[in-house]
Amino acid sequence: MTPGVAKRGITLAAIAAICTTLVAATYHVTAPLIAANEQAWLERSLKPAFAGVDYEGSITAAKLILEPPHGLPGNDTAIIYRAYSGGSPAAALFAVTARGGYAGPIRILVGIDVAGAITGVRILEHRETPGLGDGIEESRSDWIHQFDRRSLGDPPAAGWQLQVDGGEFDQLTGASVTPRAVIKGVRETLLYFDANREEIFTMPATSEAP
Ligand SMILES: Cc1cc2nc3c(=O)[nH]c(=O)nc-3n(C[C@H](O)[C@H](O)[C@H](O)COP(=O)(O)O)c2cc1C
Repeated sequence: MTPGVAKRGITLAAIAAICTTLVAATYHVTAPLIAANEQAWLERSLKPAFAGVDYEGSITAAKLILEPPHGLPGNDTAIIYRAYSGGSPAAALFAVTARGGYAGPIRILVGIDVAGAITGVRILEHRETPGLGDGIEESRSDWIHQFDRRSLGDPPAAGWQLQVDGGEFDQLTGASVTPRAVIKGVRETLLYFDANREEIFTMPATSEAP
């Protein structure tokens, strides 16, 4: 190897080392900012399902990630966010999957206060038909607000159905498959809360891979 080639090789290696260091340093500085922004966004997104709940600290910090079988609706990962007030349980927020939608699974967010009353339900993800099943979205109709303040006893078990099926919940015009799936998913979440109230608030948070 001639001295010229060796010199160029050393120069290229030095440039590569400087670039690698710069990328690593940028990541080091921005990663915590990105994580904090993501967390703030998540907290804001979850709040609508936590109407009227007073709590302190972050709800996203102490989450439980449950893999099936877990007893919650849907046969996939469920996430539970817990909220505390004065160190005592205030409410829990469940991200679960309602099965039996017209076009597939429907990911729902169900907030339940410590007394077992629903603080809000929101639709996280679905593939229902625009103009039909998508009326479950809060931005499309008020349908989802029928769950506000409801609980296992309100209505009693037989009432947790659409009015066409003899229950208490309004249907969506021309689309009864979608709301049936959501009502079932919400009620199953209430049943899980009722059966596991103690553990939900005392189980240690799931540690995630770094
Ligand atoms: C193209 C197409 C899309 C549909 N999308 C939905 C939907 O998103 N949600 C739903 O509940 N029903 C949807 N339906 C209607 C259902 O097939 C069903 O007729 C409707 O839910 C009413 O059910 P019911 O007869 O029990 O009242 C769709 C039907 C068609 C033809």
